[in-house]
Amino acid sequence: MPQPDTPEAPKDAAADSAPDVVTEKSVSTRKGGAPEAAADLPQSGAPGIRFEKVVKRFGSNVVLRELDFTVSPGERVTLIGPSGSGKTTILRLLMTLETLNEGVIWIGDETLWHMDRGGKRVPASQRHLHEMRKQVGMVFQQFNLFPNMNVLRNLTEGPVRVLGVPKDEAVERARGLLDMVGLSDKENAHPTQLSGGQQQRVAIARALAMQPKVLLLDEVTSALDPELVVGVQDLLRDIARQSDLTMLCVTHEMAFAKDISNRVLMFDQGQIVEEGPPDQIFGEPSEQRTRDFLQAVLAS
Ligand SMILES: Nc1ncnc2c1ncn2[C@@H]1O[C@H](COP(=O)(O)OP(=O)(O)OP(=O)(O)O)[C@@H](O)[C@H]1O
Ligand SMILES: [Mg+2]
Repeated sequence: MPQPDTPEAPKDAAADSAPDVVTEKSVSTRKGGAPEAAADLPQSGAPGIRFEKVVKRFGSNVVLRELDFTVSPGERVTLIGPSGSGKTTILRLLMTLETLNEGVIWIGDETLWHMDRGGKRVPASQRHLHEMRKQVGMVFQQFNLFPNMNVLRNLTEGPVRVLGVPKDEAVERARGLLDMVGLSDKENAHPTQLSGGQQQRVAIARALAMQPKVLLLDEVTSALDPELVVGVQDLLRDIARQSDLTMLCVTHEMAFAKDISNRVLMFDQGQIVEEGPPDQIFGEPSEQRTRDFLQAVLAS
């Protein structure tokens, strides 16, 4: 179920929707001057993630089967596996774009889809989801920019409307991020006036404009022309190096996965088949299922 303050379901620009729970105080902004691109990325306090016996079904299709896994604070994990194995579903659950059926997801020491009420774990309220969602940013395969807004507004809309950041601060920060992604001269352009690579850079900057602690990347270069892939990957490598974001990345690009991640999880049919450091999973996988999958990826 898409939530109103996620990139997938942009709020109507004309809608009058004051942020419901966020105060200015809760937004960390730096005082004075334009943000240094690298210095403005989160440097500490990223939470870990834990899935505990998470079940996700679509009708009779059981997509995640009592899935357990943990990502440490600041760790960068790549998810691989065949089409339909549940990778996107995992990211969408974390982004609160899908609800879970059973189990518990933790972000840091708080549960995402549940909350504590008098010592009992109950389904999360909209307010709780809203608070939790602020920690998570996602970049999609198809960019999902707000088509009716120019680049600058794509970056300021969420911070202003959802986080309650004063407009001038949001603009200043957006310009710093556009500088970081090399698109300072495009702030007035609309998404349709940009190349795929440029749109994806804007989408990355937009995700970072929300100052997330967790960054989710879902095959972010697979819709790009080959010559644009490297630039976007380089940008993400820099972001990974210069921040302590906890990152979950779905990609079939092995060189990129090796560079960007500390650990690779191989999924099949909603469960983890094998996990380990990228060199081990890509170089000496122990499971036949992983070997078959990697061979198929290499052949494609
Ligand atoms: N909204 C939905 N309604 C019904 N079924 C869905 C929905 N979203 C995903 N599914 C099903 O859930 C399963 C897992 O899908 P998911 O998108 O997570 O796979 P994936 O591992 O990301 O695959 P790919 O590599 O092709 O992106 C698939 O069988 C898919 O058809
Ligand atoms: Mg997917």
